[in-house]
Amino acid sequence: MEELNKKTKKNPVENQILVIFGSNGDLAKRKLLPAIFQLYLDNLLPEDFVVIGAGSQEKDEKTNRNDVSDALKEFAKTGTNEYPEKLKNFLKHVYYQKVHNQTEEDFGALKKYIDQLSKKLNVPKNIIYYFSIPPFLYEVVAANLVKYGLNTEDDGWKRIIVEKPFGYSLETAIDLDNKLRSGFNEDQIYRIDHYLGKETVQNIMVTRFSNGFFEPIWNRKYVDRVEITAAEKIGVGSRGGYYDTSGTMRDMIQNHLLQVLAVVAMEPPAIFDSESIRNESVKVLQALRPIKPHEIAENVVRGQYIQTMVDDVIQNGYRQEKDVSPNSKTETFVAMKVFVDNWRWGDVPFYIRTGKHLPERVTEVVIHLKPAPHQLFKQRCVAQSTNMIILRISPDAGVAVDFGMKIPGAGYKVQNVNMAFHYSDLAENKISEAYERLLLDCMIGDSTLYARADAVKASWKFVDPILQAWKNNPDIPLYFYECNTWGPKEANLLFGNKELKWRAPFKKFKVD
Ligand code: BG6
Repeated sequence: MEELNKKTKKNPVENQILVIFGSNGDLAKRKLLPAIFQLYLDNLLPEDFVVIGAGSQEKDEKTNRNDVSDALKEFAKTGTNEYPEKLKNFLKHVYYQKVHNQTEEDFGALKKYIDQLSKKLNVPKNIIYYFSIPPFLYEVVAANLVKYGLNTEDDGWKRIIVEKPFGYSLETAIDLDNKLRSGFNEDQIYRIDHYLGKETVQNIMVTRFSNGFFEPIWNRKYVDRVEITAAEKIGVGSRGGYYDTSGTMRDMIQNHLLQVLAVVAMEPPAIFDSESIRNESVKVLQALRPIKPHEIAENVVRGQYIQTMVDDVIQNGYRQEKDVSPNSKTETFVAMKVFVDNWRWGDVPFYIRTGKHLPERVTEVVIHLKPAPHQLFKQRCVAQSTNMIILRISPDAGVAVDFGMKIPGAGYKVQNVNMAFHYSDLAENKISEAYERLLLDCMIGDSTLYARADAVKASWKFVDPILQAWKNNPDIPLYFYECNTWGPKEANLLFGNKELKWRAPFKKFKVD
């Protein structure tokens, strides 16, 4: 919050209107409304701001305010019990207009409603339109906004926030981009990737670029390999319908994990502004070595969880989940070996892994350093002495450095120890949720942490051939794995070296 406070001092948040399309949906209730409410509690919103829920349901203002209040009581982190007065006041900023996204005239009504509210409440028509709707509706809603001139900036700025997935393939992403660009400029389009809003992902940049001692070793000369893991304990739950058309590659890798990889691998920008940072990160995505169809089986492992007994409870297999086809070949796990073909990273493998129903919920980056040139104490090691820098994104966020130390006493026995920094020790205030940070950034017009069109295209360009090959080549295996395991054992084969395997991260990244 401290950080967010500083931001708004530098760039004050102008009075504005936020229209949420899909305001009755899950994302709005669980993430967006709680984030806006938290910004309000933290006094980060302007005096005059208006949130207009735009949903297909017919309901009056009072019912909508009750619904928003219920959602906040269920999902907001703090505040609804402690500050009932504040909740009451917050709800005064909340309005509702029925909008069926595919009904053109509803946008005429929305325009009228915005005009009226803006006049009545004296709020300028600086508007953010948040597309919290299924992706197939993005272009329809954008076109309807354009039809009624709701995109024009002569009476205030207009911005759209588009959720992921941005497209379904390279071709559809380009097509969607062209369609959005016919009504909005690039600087009006905010493609959200909530991983970039995580405090701890941004801290990767600070770790690298504000310390003299990490950067000199952050390259092919000293780094042996990099591991990026985003593991989830839960399965797809009630999201089977969406997930079965998406799969892990589209859901997690094309966006979140490749963005994290870009932050880990990028060159330092010359200046710290939105375009310079994004110029550097896109170069990483453009330098990803394409995986050719015949190399896929060797470099990419896909898996799907199966029915498993965990703690005496039967966990559904993916194919038994609601709204999932019983023969589905959709992957719920991906592990892959990736190379960034540039001077800094030439031939350093990046291993990326993510999946559902794994043993822990943990996201981390591990930089494995090359061993010392001569292992002087090899015979005396209790554990093999390896050097790692662990960037823990969640939970128990922090940074740890692992290295070998002499065990006190006679002889030279070496054991791995770590120095760990826990984010919770630094932040007296709570760490802001990704959506709080990202919404505030959009409100002040800072797009640094939003994905730019060229980055989205570059990552699709990389994953598309893999998705195509999976679809067209039945010989590429889909491995099955039991819930509560680290995925198919074939994921270890990616290392091509029997001595190497994936790190099994703990809940707490530092073992005391
Ligand atoms: C979402 C994916 O974008 O990210 C989900 O659609 C996934 O499938 C989620 O569970 C993970 O986010 P986080 O912040 O919980 O790691």
